[in-house]
Amino acid sequence: MVSRVIPVDPFDLVVFGGTGDLAQRKIIPGLYRRFLAGQIPPESTIIGAARSEMDDAGFQQLSREAIAEFVAKDKQEPEAIDAFVARLGYVAIDAKGEGGWDALKKRMREGVVRAFYLSVAPSLFGDIAERLHQYKITDPDSRIVVEKPFGRDLESARALNKVLAQHFDEAQIYRIDHYLGKETVQNLMAVRFANILFEPLWKSEYVDHVQITVAETVSVEGRGAYYDRAGAMRDMVQNHMMQLLCLIAMEPPYHFDPDAVRDEKLKVIRALDPVEPDDIVRGQYLAGNGQNSYLQDAENPASKTESYIAMKVNISNWRWKGTPFYLRTGKRLRARESEIAITFREPPHSIFDDAEGWRENVLVIRLQPNEGMDLMVMIKEPGPGGMRLAQVPLDMSFAEALGEEGADIPDAYERLIMDVIRGNQTLFMRGDEVEAAWAWTDPIIHGWEQRGEKPKSYDAGSSGPEDALMLMHRDGRRWREIRE
Ligand code: BG6
Repeated sequence: MVSRVIPVDPFDLVVFGGTGDLAQRKIIPGLYRRFLAGQIPPESTIIGAARSEMDDAGFQQLSREAIAEFVAKDKQEPEAIDAFVARLGYVAIDAKGEGGWDALKKRMREGVVRAFYLSVAPSLFGDIAERLHQYKITDPDSRIVVEKPFGRDLESARALNKVLAQHFDEAQIYRIDHYLGKETVQNLMAVRFANILFEPLWKSEYVDHVQITVAETVSVEGRGAYYDRAGAMRDMVQNHMMQLLCLIAMEPPYHFDPDAVRDEKLKVIRALDPVEPDDIVRGQYLAGNGQNSYLQDAENPASKTESYIAMKVNISNWRWKGTPFYLRTGKRLRARESEIAITFREPPHSIFDDAEGWRENVLVIRLQPNEGMDLMVMIKEPGPGGMRLAQVPLDMSFAEALGEEGADIPDAYERLIMDVIRGNQTLFMRGDEVEAAWAWTDPIIHGWEQRGEKPKSYDAGSSGPEDALMLMHRDGRRWREIRE
């Protein structure tokens, strides 16, 4: 397959929080990989901005170390690294004061795209937006990129939207949900809207239920303080899982265009039913395999925050009424596995009276690892012995099917940053979408708080609390196995 790397326009990208964890782990290594791929024109500049006093050389050195640690060895090409770090600069900045802003302004060039990535605490969004405006560092075409957490409830999300709207139009604001940058997540749209095959079946009449699983093996270690205030609901469901659900459930947009796509996602969020307490199971991992329990990691022995959540979600619209969506996500589970499984209904009538072995058709979209799709279909078990049925997968691994190009899929952050420079907001959340997601999430969280609900314990390395099994068993269904 031919490489289709199309260079973006030259740009000045300022990364606030440039010395921080996300910048060093994801943003700088991601930019280097795009540079290596020939997508970033050499006349672009990347400026780290943070509180620490440092010069360009210091930031370049820090970034070299980040590349050495977070970029695959076979991609670490000394000449490319030298050329890339030569594009890096640094400005020490006081987000809440006046220091550094004049210096930053001097670094910005005319005639190139200006993008400002706020890889900082949301409490600084307002200060930074205000100073960018005050020092006339932005122009009407500038883009501002913000990271999650985008608020912790509807009220705080509204306040953040308001602060940004004071100095930026919605068309300039890029709210990152890195799940939307994942190759397979975008593939959901291609599978649905570039094939005639699935769309006629994509409705309650033919779909029995949908399972969305994002299982992680990692703990919250190191991020306990943040996580304990968030929990799986705020950390994963309100954003990443909600986006997955929207892409599965939305109506076909009239065009692959930012607002057309986001309008359709918003309609799904607004059609979500409130979730009954009985339709949610929350869990906390126990200590195991020499590792801490959640309570130890969170350093809060009385914590009622969930590190696991499973829930049944109903969508009240014409297409999905009667097809539940089961979501589950958690830390310290058996395996790192994210997938969406669409289970179809039984054929209306079986002509095989004595046929054993019948199972439902399932379309499994594997997000990670081993990105790809499986379509589980029934065939006749080969050989004599009458009509026995067997379920077999029509398996497609994207890396295998697409050869080298499939194996070299850009990381979500790489793709999203390039989209910012291209000015394409399709894979970013619009303000009203984020607010609608919080409006659905808030009452659920308030309910737990009011009832003082404690999560159930689950063993580290398991597939979650026992009660989560019941959530499906009582509906005559079962979770797909999380395989090691
Ligand atoms: C982040 C969450 O947004 O997504 C983390 O804050 C989580 O808790 C991570 O581990 C999962 O992302 P990925 O890309 O590893 O599936």
